[in-house]
Amino acid sequence: MSAKIITIAIEKGGTGKTVTASNLAYLMGDEGKKVLCVDTDPQGNLTKALSGGLSITSDEFYGKALYNLFDGFLYHSKTRDFIMETQYENVDMIPCDAQTPRINKRIELLIGDAERLKDGDPRKVSGMGDFLYYFLNQVRDEYDYILIDTQPTRDSLLLSNAIYAADYILIPAGCEDNSEESAFRLYYECNKMKQSSTSHLMGAGVLLVNVDKSAATDKKIQEHFKEELGTSLFSVAIPTSKTVKTSISRFLPVCYMAKTQPVAKAYVKAYEELKKRLEVK
Ligand SMILES: Nc1ncnc2c1ncn2[C@@H]1O[C@H](COP(=O)(O)OP(=O)(O)OP(=O)(O)O)[C@@H](O)[C@H]1O
Ligand SMILES: [Mg+2]
Repeated sequence: MSAKIITIAIEKGGTGKTVTASNLAYLMGDEGKKVLCVDTDPQGNLTKALSGGLSITSDEFYGKALYNLFDGFLYHSKTRDFIMETQYENVDMIPCDAQTPRINKRIELLIGDAERLKDGDPRKVSGMGDFLYYFLNQVRDEYDYILIDTQPTRDSLLLSNAIYAADYILIPAGCEDNSEESAFRLYYECNKMKQSSTSHLMGAGVLLVNVDKSAATDKKIQEHFKEELGTSLFSVAIPTSKTVKTSISRFLPVCYMAKTQPVAKAYVKAYEELKKRLEVK
């Protein structure tokens, strides 16, 4: 087993990254796949969603979160020690806590530490973007999938780490102009990255989420996405559903809480499509 690392990202805020992450994680686990979720967003929404609503300031996460893993780099921190089980079978997570925003500063200092290590030391990472990849590789053999949720931003070392770690970048975009611009920008950045000889990125794809099929603007924007991206656009779109809001307030994935709803069925299709995309090199 060597986990495929999927980073869920788009700079635009509130498009559906976390909802997509929690539902895919649940579906993967439900199918018997071992999944590790990594919450790199300081808001901690995925941590909350997978822990039944715990706040990132909860004692549960104190000393055991993503920041602590980075902080212990020079002391050989073991990724396994920062992984906790969630209430969903086969789904583990490395949680976010209140110190996550400090990771960016930490990475700036760690690169100097890494450079001073002897050649051959496994911690001798080569660039500021490679720390998360180094940490995740420690547990890669224990999982089928590693899902990384990210923050809505462009300028963050932690986000770069999440992007560089990925085998696949999943871009959840809404049917609106601003979302479209952000999605295309990231998609083209990924394509550029893929061409680099040092990149292990297999691909990137855009999943339209929160789509109102009856709205003319949504239809128009959906068509524009299709024209621009071709097969890199997921053929399934996640429909708008009031149940998503309810599921968030209950800290339950909609695929767990309301399996028969169209939105849950659409996520099942998206997962099937994602699996196919991960097979193609
Ligand atoms: N399919 C959907 N139907 C209806 N509402 C949705 C759907 N998907 C997402 N939403 C709404 O969008 C909001 C934002 O979703 P989510 O938290 O997943 O976005 P995000 O991209 O992770 O946000 P952020 O950028 O802040 O991390 C949710 O609180 C929910 O109300
Ligand atoms: Mg989010």
